[in-house]
Amino acid sequence: MHNLIIMGPPGAGKGTQSEKIVAAYNIPHISTGDMFREAISKKTELGTKAESYIKSGALVPDEITIGLVKERLSMDDCKNGYLLDGFPRTILQAEALRDLTKEIGREVTLVINLVCDYESLAGRISQRRVCPKCGASYHLVTKKPEVEGICDNCKTPLIQREDDTMEALKTRLNAYEMKTKPLIEFYEKENLIKNIDGLQSIDDVFSDIKKALEGK
Ligand code: AP5
Ligand code: MG
Ligand code: ZN
Repeated sequence: MHNLIIMGPPGAGKGTQSEKIVAAYNIPHISTGDMFREAISKKTELGTKAESYIKSGALVPDEITIGLVKERLSMDDCKNGYLLDGFPRTILQAEALRDLTKEIGREVTLVINLVCDYESLAGRISQRRVCPKCGASYHLVTKKPEVEGICDNCKTPLIQREDDTMEALKTRLNAYEMKTKPLIEFYEKENLIKNIDGLQSIDDVFSDIKKALEGK
């Protein structure tokens, strides 16, 4: 059973590797960032609550985020595994997740931690383009779409994320450093973490992930 978390700083490649993992292992991809962005574009109540945080690069409050994941993880399609991308991001979220997954019998089996130095992240973020419809992410140099500016999967014109400015990135990195990084120790204690070098090519990172999963 693969009940997975993928973590790492902004731009580490969580979304990129998630696409490959969910295709190879046939499990749902649960990205809180994607869920918030979808809610914002649909102008739902959740979207209205989350919008200003996301735009500035700050974390959305725990009570909103935890509620969202609880609902999603309890759904039927998560019974044979799942991949959490971008959650948990605080100790409180990690504790809530531990309690919930115990309660519903879906405990985390592995935490993939993509290790990257901060200097490389700015280039990845500034040259990223994303599909507003299916969430796929591209890069102007390292992951070009087949047709310039168009999503390979759903042919939607690509856009830049609103929080992919250098100013918002600073805030995101700061939030990562202060609130999310302590989770590495949290999961080390639970013996769940697998560190993977996120600076390798996209295919090499994925090959390390597969090795980690198959060793389980
Ligand atoms: P979220 O959407 O999770 O953003 P993030 O953590 O900042 O991470 P990114 O999506 O920017 O990066 P990624 O690691 O997915 O990188 P990618 O694969 O795209 O969260 C956004 C916001 O939502 C937060 O700031 C917060 O406000 C809110 N939020 C979400 N979850 C929350 C939570 N739990 N609690 C509170 N608030 C929450 O890759 C980046 C680029 O690099 C791409 O262009 C890609 O093509 C390229 N690339 C990837 N891998 C490689 C490689 N190996 N080599 C070369 N290029 C590569
Ligand atoms: Mg992402
Ligand atoms: Zn698309």
